[in-house]
Amino acid sequence: MSKNIVLVGLMGAGKTTIGKLLSNITKKEFTDSDEIIEKEAGKTINEIFAEHGEKHFRDLEKNTIKKLSEKSNLIISTGGGSIENIENIENLKTNSVLFYLKTTPEILFSRIKTDTTRPLLKNPNPLLTLKNLLERREPFYKMADIEIETTNKTSDEIVKEIIEKYEQF
Ligand code: S3P
Repeated sequence: MSKNIVLVGLMGAGKTTIGKLLSNITKKEFTDSDEIIEKEAGKTINEIFAEHGEKHFRDLEKNTIKKLSEKSNLIISTGGGSIENIENIENLKTNSVLFYLKTTPEILFSRIKTDTTRPLLKNPNPLLTLKNLLERREPFYKMADIEIETTNKTSDEIVKEIIEKYEQF
């Protein structure tokens, strides 16, 4: 199948790690919407947020996702907030199978607590931020084609499950 595999989920859900493993196995090229945005802007996500604000970042994100949606045979790791714009979900759904990598805020936090590259978590209580974001975004994540519960599974198990479900889709 030539449809893209798109990974959605909160920061720390494993979209990049799982995406790269999927790429190795399926031989589909790995792409990361945040990485493309940073390359094209010549700035980090932190700099884009600080200098131009979140709204500007979301515009860049929408354009990047639109361009990626028109391609095929990719593994696409999306920024955790991209799905809050329904247009992004609609664009992605035209030629991709969307997988929601689901786990708890506590696990997400344990993975990203020392990371400084995420502007939305630069505050005194990042765990609470993750809980609030999850509550707000869950209805959007649920619009993915397939939900993958990742808690207590190894990366290899998650990758295997995604490939099986992709092939059956
Ligand atoms: C964001 C998630 C980040 C990045 C930006 C905003 C979000 O991507 O797009 O910091 O709104 O959840 P990751 O989910 O890859 O960390």
